[in-house]
Amino acid sequence: MSETYEVPEQVRRGAAGPVRTREEYLDTYHQAQNDPSGYWLQCAKHHLSWRTPPTLGLQGSYHTIAEAPLRWFADGRLNVTESCLDRHLATRGDKVAILWEGDEPGNVRKLTYRELHAEVCRAANALAALGVGVGDRVIIYMGMVPEAAVAMLACARVGAVHSVVFGGFSADSLRDRIIDCGASVVITQDEGRRGGRSIPLKATTDEACDGQSVRAVLVYRHTGTPVQMVEGRDVWWQDVVPSAAATHTAVEVGAEDPLFILYTSGSTGKPKGLVHTSGGYLLWATWTCATTFDLREDDVFACVADIGWITGHSYIVYGPLANGATTLMFESTPLHPDAGRYWDMVQRHRITVFYTAPTAIRALAAHGTEPVQRYDRSSLRVLGTVGEPINPDAWRWYHQVVGEGRCNVVDTWWQTETGGHMITPIAPVTATKPGSATLPLPGVLPKLLDDKDREIVGPGEGRLCIRHPWPGQARTVWGDHERYVQTYFGTFPGLYFTGDGARRDEHGYFWITGRVDDVINVAGHRMGTAEFESALVSTELVAEAAVVPFPHDVKGQGVMAYVVLRGEAPAGLADQLNGVCRTAIGAHARIDRLAVIPGLPKTRSGKVMRRILRKVAEGRSDQLGDVSTLADPSVVQAIIAAAGS
Ligand code: PRX
Repeated sequence: MSETYEVPEQVRRGAAGPVRTREEYLDTYHQAQNDPSGYWLQCAKHHLSWRTPPTLGLQGSYHTIAEAPLRWFADGRLNVTESCLDRHLATRGDKVAILWEGDEPGNVRKLTYRELHAEVCRAANALAALGVGVGDRVIIYMGMVPEAAVAMLACARVGAVHSVVFGGFSADSLRDRIIDCGASVVITQDEGRRGGRSIPLKATTDEACDGQSVRAVLVYRHTGTPVQMVEGRDVWWQDVVPSAAATHTAVEVGAEDPLFILYTSGSTGKPKGLVHTSGGYLLWATWTCATTFDLREDDVFACVADIGWITGHSYIVYGPLANGATTLMFESTPLHPDAGRYWDMVQRHRITVFYTAPTAIRALAAHGTEPVQRYDRSSLRVLGTVGEPINPDAWRWYHQVVGEGRCNVVDTWWQTETGGHMITPIAPVTATKPGSATLPLPGVLPKLLDDKDREIVGPGEGRLCIRHPWPGQARTVWGDHERYVQTYFGTFPGLYFTGDGARRDEHGYFWITGRVDDVINVAGHRMGTAEFESALVSTELVAEAAVVPFPHDVKGQGVMAYVVLRGEAPAGLADQLNGVCRTAIGAHARIDRLAVIPGLPKTRSGKVMRRILRKVAEGRSDQLGDVSTLADPSVVQAIIAAAGS
């Protein structure tokens, strides 16, 4: 039997979230299972601030999703920012809403709820003056500055749809997203800062917007470095926001109106723009943030993700703010200036809930315990992880070294598509096992399917599906509902297929085993093998390419590229190909291992047997199985030899 950690007394004591005991968990789970529509309708009314409260719960089902997208709370009317800001003014006006820590330690800014509200109103007025209105799409391409959160909220305030693009993405990726969502305005900054380095956000924006129909680029001056401003298009944030009125009447929208589009990678084709709604998404972000972390009034909540990913949307901006919490925004990296940075921040800001990715934990564990123990971590109560499976050793290090065994570790499994947590411990409730995401939240009904598509009842391992809608579920892919239906509901009709594999143990605990499709998860960054492959074959050098993941000690997965060249390998091939991927995708898209092979392993009908490439990359060439169906079985030995080199 695997080791189990009971919830420490200090985490259980004074629990304040919506689910505080094991009994409440079971009770809530059953209520949400028996009457999902009614249960979430009542939660929506209770947890959010509405102009017109909804009377409808769920409309639609997975069986009719092709014809009629899911709808939650469809007759409700609201503006998301009233839940995140206005309703806190009377009771929490002077409470810190955003606690910003810049790239250099101790470079701190604090915005109270009153200040943040005023700033969002000013930015909303500035956006309205630029002609941004209901339903318009605005791309936000910024680093981790408070103004990025202000920009998101200002879009929501005027009823526009934001799409945040992670600052590491290249001009090509940014341009693709601008075109796909038809953005008329881009908000960016002169430069980003990260780990002592500058990121040329404005220059990249200029390259991406060249020739596109972007009307206005709003530029926040952060580092002060000189940048080019395009006459008639570019406007300094500092010229229009501070002078705008600090009051703004929020624009009322329907619960099902889109709040944002967030692009994410899948198995095939270009990244898809998942659409999250104003009512259902906000409820899920709010309720899961309160429930999983057992948020308390005096918490200092630190999610050190980037707002360019869903984690930043749900657990830096919308979830914490809707709950009236103090949320930390962190501009730097865990290793800048050294491996003690996180714990230095924990000590200085008295952080109570800390939320990071397994890859950061593994990277820090490699530096030993001294950088952790140098700082006082007694304020910590809950330690969260997200983004990839956490190996038990990293889990124990987090629990024992960082948390001194006093905190509950919540390993939260979820996805861009789910909007918020799905399978996770609830901090004051769920006993944990290192490496397990434990149990589904109320409203989440998982189902495992074996390789013959049969349901696994009880313990077993298979493909993870969800069998009932929940409010935070992405409703569609922007401009391509058919792709949404095919991707998520095409494999198992009537079920949402997550793309992940999972094992359920004898206690009903889930252990996520990772993606079972062609998605690679490097250091918590999700990338499609197809994106790498199309970048590689776009060069004259490469005739064919196949990209697969391999296990990586720190990053979880690394990227291995097999390429078939048109001619001889030139000097510096790996650097050249990495440059191609950086240009096509972004700075985070790096090939870790490159193998030049004479041909891809193809069946006689021309299908690439990726299984062989994956096994070789994993160092399991002895487990290739049957290769006799290959058109040219001799290629296998060449692949093994090239991969070993
Ligand atoms: O494979 C799962 C992994 O990350 C994928 C979702 O990636 P993304 O949409 O970028 O969202 C990341 C932040 C929610 C999932 O399909 N994943 C996420 N959290 C976990 C995880 N794998 C195992 N354990 C987790 N806690």
